[in-house]
Amino acid sequence: MMKENKISAVPPREVTVDRIFADDRKPSDFTFSAETAKVFDDMVSRSVPFYDELQRMTTEMARDFAQAGTALYDLGCATGTTFALLDPVLDPSIAFVGVDNSAEMLAKAKEKLAAVAKRRTLDLECADLNGMRPLRNASFVVMILTLQFVRPLHRERVAKKIYDGMNDRGAFILIEKLTAQDSGINRLFIDYYHQLKRRQGYSDMEIAQKREALENVLIPYRIEENIDLLRNAGFRSVESFFRWYNFCGILATK
Ligand SMILES: C[S@@+](CC[C@H](N)C(=O)[O-])C[C@H]1O[C@@H](n2cnc3c(N)ncnc32)[C@H](O)[C@@H]1O
Repeated sequence: MMKENKISAVPPREVTVDRIFADDRKPSDFTFSAETAKVFDDMVSRSVPFYDELQRMTTEMARDFAQAGTALYDLGCATGTTFALLDPVLDPSIAFVGVDNSAEMLAKAKEKLAAVAKRRTLDLECADLNGMRPLRNASFVVMILTLQFVRPLHRERVAKKIYDGMNDRGAFILIEKLTAQDSGINRLFIDYYHQLKRRQGYSDMEIAQKREALENVLIPYRIEENIDLLRNAGFRSVESFFRWYNFCGILATK
């Protein structure tokens, strides 16, 4: 089924509606497979609160921090939506480097960014962030809803590599799903989140099956743990710029 994308900030395009968990499925871990890549843009825009606004804020901050002649990294770039939004507002001398370990997601990104690749250097790397390679000459690094998929054991090293590979006065945007310290509050936030998904047209079965599939795959931290991670990596200033129940956005500067 096709529909017009409703995200106003994202360039209009046809997206395929996410019905992956609509029918009874055998339980299995969530993956960013071809099946997911096909519907990802619809899935993320209906599953992440204020996704459109988060992308807009990221663009706004990139305009202030991304410097001409440097590199801008999107770690977990998925289908390339963030690059598509950043391209029209950033100097063409800024190279875009996207990293993702799903070849299927990167294939979609390559398609979406074909015009971008004609205007600026665009490098889409298929690599696992658990063993992240050093960044080079980065003035702006974005990690939107991706650190939560990196194994906790590797997160400190990832944060340190981002810091080390970044130029002075560079910035890092981290957007994550969260868990809360208090289990009662945590349950409430999850319930409010599921209500948002219902308002976005997901059925109870879809919500329950997706939650189960993500159980061992998406490991959220508390906001304090994410802030400590960035401070310990060396970032001079760490400020949250967005909070909606169990979602947050953090800006860290070097
Ligand atoms: C929720 S999506 C990211 C959404 C995207 N940043 C956006 O703004 O729309 C998470 C992405 O991270 C990628 N990913 C998950 N674990 C990864 C890993 N260990 N290494 C590299 N990429 C990973 C997935 O393939 C997926 O494309």
